[in-house]
Amino acid sequence: MNAAEFLAALDTVERDHQILLDKVQGLKNAVSALLDSEDVGTGRAFERLREVNRYLATVFEAHMEEEETTLFPLLARCSCEGPGLVDRLRQEHADIRTRRTQFDSALQVAGELEDRLPRAVLWDLLTDGWELWEVLNTHAHAETQALHQCLTRSYKIGGGE
Ligand SMILES: [Fe+2]
Ligand SMILES: [Fe+2]
Repeated sequence: MNAAEFLAALDTVERDHQILLDKVQGLKNAVSALLDSEDVGTGRAFERLREVNRYLATVFEAHMEEEETTLFPLLARCSCEGPGLVDRLRQEHADIRTRRTQFDSALQVAGELEDRLPRAVLWDLLTDGWELWEVLNTHAHAETQALHQCLTRSYKIGGGE
């Protein structure tokens, strides 16, 4: 892959990450709304959580699979951290999938009790949602930064060398 192709791939990944970060912000807002709400069984917060959950299970899952198939092998050959970096990113994908599944379960349990939601169930949902938000946010930023470093070092772009 030459520098132009790498830049094009980077553009696609960054665009996906921007959409992800918008969704993640929606997740954070919905969690905050549930925390602030007196009547947690109503309102749009649950629908927003479900929408983010659906997005993560479909569109974002496809994004991760695409990265694992095409991007990570490229990064592994990168002149920077290479294989160690890819191992870490793969581990983060596994962690994201595990947390997304936990969040999905908490959302289903809470959804069945939506009208009379016990505080403990709500707390599980909020904790899972908040942790998922943190992991996604950190992963997207770290991945984007790693790609920039790889591009800079591999093709001497913007590195002043
Ligand atoms: Fe990723
Ligand atoms: Fe990504």
